[in-house]
Amino acid sequence: MGAPASAVGRELLPDTAVVGGDGRLAVGGVDLCELAAEWGTPLFVYDEAHLRARCREALAAFGPGVAYAGKAFLCLAMARLVAEEGLGLDVATGGELHCALAAGFPPERLVLHGNNKSLAELGRARELGIRVVVDSFDELDRLDRLHADDPGPPLPVAVRVTPGVEAHTHAYVQTGQVDSKFGFGLAGGAAAEAVARVRASPAMHLAGLHAHIGSQVFVVGSFEKAIAVLAPFTAEAGVEELCIGGGLGVPYVAGEEAPTIGAWAAGLRAAAQAAGLAVRITAEPGRAIAAAAGVTLYTVGTVKRIPEVRTYVAVDGGMSDNPRPVLYGSGYEAFLARSVDAPRPLVAHVVGKHCESGDVVVRGARLPADTAVGDVLCTPVTGAYGHAMASNYNKVPRPAVVFVADGSARVAVRRESLEDLLRLDA
Ligand code: LLP
Repeated sequence: MGAPASAVGRELLPDTAVVGGDGRLAVGGVDLCELAAEWGTPLFVYDEAHLRARCREALAAFGPGVAYAGKAFLCLAMARLVAEEGLGLDVATGGELHCALAAGFPPERLVLHGNNKSLAELGRARELGIRVVVDSFDELDRLDRLHADDPGPPLPVAVRVTPGVEAHTHAYVQTGQVDSKFGFGLAGGAAAEAVARVRASPAMHLAGLHAHIGSQVFVVGSFEKAIAVLAPFTAEAGVEELCIGGGLGVPYVAGEEAPTIGAWAAGLRAAAQAAGLAVRITAEPGRAIAAAAGVTLYTVGTVKRIPEVRTYVAVDGGMSDNPRPVLYGSGYEAFLARSVDAPRPLVAHVVGKHCESGDVVVRGARLPADTAVGDVLCTPVTGAYGHAMASNYNKVPRPAVVFVADGSARVAVRRESLEDLLRLDA
């Protein structure tokens, strides 16, 4: 049964979300109000079944070789879940690599990204034989130098190509255009030069091509265009695999729609076929796997009504646990965990506790009229690039992360303590 028109859409909630007879929300069989009482707020809650279902969908759609992009959300528990589900894992830095290895992630299923990989990061990849997506001529120089100093088996690499395709998304997360810090440009000949260099180098062997055109892209046509543009070059390079990166968008607010992972994969394959390209098409989605699996729970601390101007509902987190509204102007929904389907006639700015006016979590949120101090306020679709981009601004400790499944909750990342805030101070 669908939710009443004024209530938050069920499609924005995690797969196992259930609204009980008392109007309260449970995820993974766990009541969210009780969870907030037990673990405190702000709290990131992940529906484990949802995460696993999206991993399985990606694996079924693309086959082995598809990777989860760890930058969206990574911790030991998540790396282990991805390993169990049989996906690869895209790590973008030595730090993400460290986390994956500490979780026991199989190195042969890792792929290392980055537009400015250090010698140390590349050295670690060589030690473990981890596939590297090479991004610049300086990086090729570094790999050649490492090999010359300490010869070893050729490292599997993919060449990252910027196809010159502008994805329909926010400029900050567009990456496929010529004017980009990422990858080797196709049009100017840099990509061809990079492929030739890799082929000629004893330090590496060419395992595939890679192109990531952007993030939060709703239009499959943007990806199809990239494939069409890359097809002749890919065929000429004689590689077996073309990875189209991540970027599949997800709905954050009512009215948004995005293709499923399966529909995205089908569109990519059709585009490859139309272009006469016979290589394996693969991908590395992050957001499409993690975003809707996660919700954030906050506690309302103040309700400030400015007559005839606006109402501000302040919660105990803010831009430190979700910088996306500030960075990209991203919209979210908000509702109360105690009355998910209650009408939401109150229009208010949900704001955080940081010392700046820009610290808005949800601009013009719709909330129940009786929203009060002490209520558990929930923002859905915060599973990607929330915890991952969290900071300690204003010395606010980062929230805990809890995984829920089959009626029980386990802490995946504990809440930072005040002591944690000082652990690096000399
Ligand atoms: N592969 C590469 C090479 C990437 O750069 C990214 C994301 C992905 C895969 C995964 O993309 P996804 O499927 O998650 O869209 N902080 C921004 C998003 C930045 C994305 C960076 N790269 C946000 O919160 O919207």
